Amino acid sequence: MQLFLAPMEGVVDYQVRDLLSALGGLDGCVTEFIRVTDSSLPRRVFLRYAPEIEQHCLTPSGTPVKVQLLGGQPEPVARNAQRAVAAGATAIDLNFGCPAKTVNKSDGGACLLREPERVHAIVAAVRNALPDAVPVSAKIRLGFDDASRYLDNALAVYEAGANELTVHARTKRDGYRPPAYWDYIARIREAVAMPVIANGEIWSPEDFERCRAVTGCDRFMLGRGLLARPDLARAIKAQVAGEEYTPMPWREVCQMLHRYYRMSQPHWGTKNASKYCGNRIKQWLMYLQRQYPEAATFFEQIKREREPARFEAAFRQAA
Ligand SMILES: Cc1cc2nc3c(=O)[nH]c(=O)nc-3n(C[C@H](O)[C@H](O)[C@H](O)COP(=O)(O)O)c2cc1C
Repeated sequence: MQLFLAPMEGVVDYQVRDLLSALGGLDGCVTEFIRVTDSSLPRRVFLRYAPEIEQHCLTPSGTPVKVQLLGGQPEPVARNAQRAVAAGATAIDLNFGCPAKTVNKSDGGACLLREPERVHAIVAAVRNALPDAVPVSAKIRLGFDDASRYLDNALAVYEAGANELTVHARTKRDGYRPPAYWDYIARIREAVAMPVIANGEIWSPEDFERCRAVTGCDRFMLGRGLLARPDLARAIKAQVAGEEYTPMPWREVCQMLHRYYRMSQPHWGTKNASKYCGNRIKQWLMYLQRQYPEAATFFEQIKREREPARFEAAFRQAA
């Protein structure tokens, strides 16, 4: 059974992948999507999204990281997939799920699900452009407006030669609203002879068990659930192994958050650090509130702050 950390643009950056994979239980991560247009992206762009490419595409604790690309035209996506691999990427994931208006308007993400032929053409172009040793995977939703072509899209990915498929069990129209329609994943899994990763609405080991029972999958991707409960992958693995598990206490979560705050500062540069690092902490606290009531208190304390000294004081007090 394998668990993966979901790609989350503006949330799951290099530092978050580092911290969450270090907690254990994760078998892989995916970068935030890298947008592809006509141009050939320089190495520094791949490096910015995936600093792991300089470390054999592993997080510091040794968890493999795939580089995700998003684009609507086969040739540029394939060309940039080659460039990503030349830059050090060891696996490429293709995004067919992004619901953002700006992304869909510029011909990328979930809007492509209205045309399974395009999905096929993009996956095939990337597969053909890369050596067999480099896995190519895709991540889809069930559709754009509705799920009427969910199987066509899954088959398009499969028949184009992809090595793995992640299914976020909702349409673009569903956004992120519960529920996730896991039963569709079961039907996809039965229709394609490649590994299928089930994704959507796994917030607890209990959700995981239900998702496993419905989908019959043995690979799962965790997104917001892992931000709300950073040790979720570890807790699920312990449950599967029949081991006792003590959930991560708030104090440790808070220490991890503090590390994130400090690790992120060099990334944003001195001018922007106080604003952006603080925003990322506030954002993560919003997810954590779901599991830890203390996160709400902490959020109240810092919600209007920007100054690093104030954050440092709040972290000291909270830990
Ligand atoms: C803020 C945010 C950013 C996301 N960015 C990406 C992305 O860059 N690439 C992608 O394939 N999916 C992206 N997703 C979708 C997630 O990977 C995942 O499919 C979705 O959150 C459902 O899983 P969950 O219910 O476990 O969160 C994003 C989701 C959120 C909430």
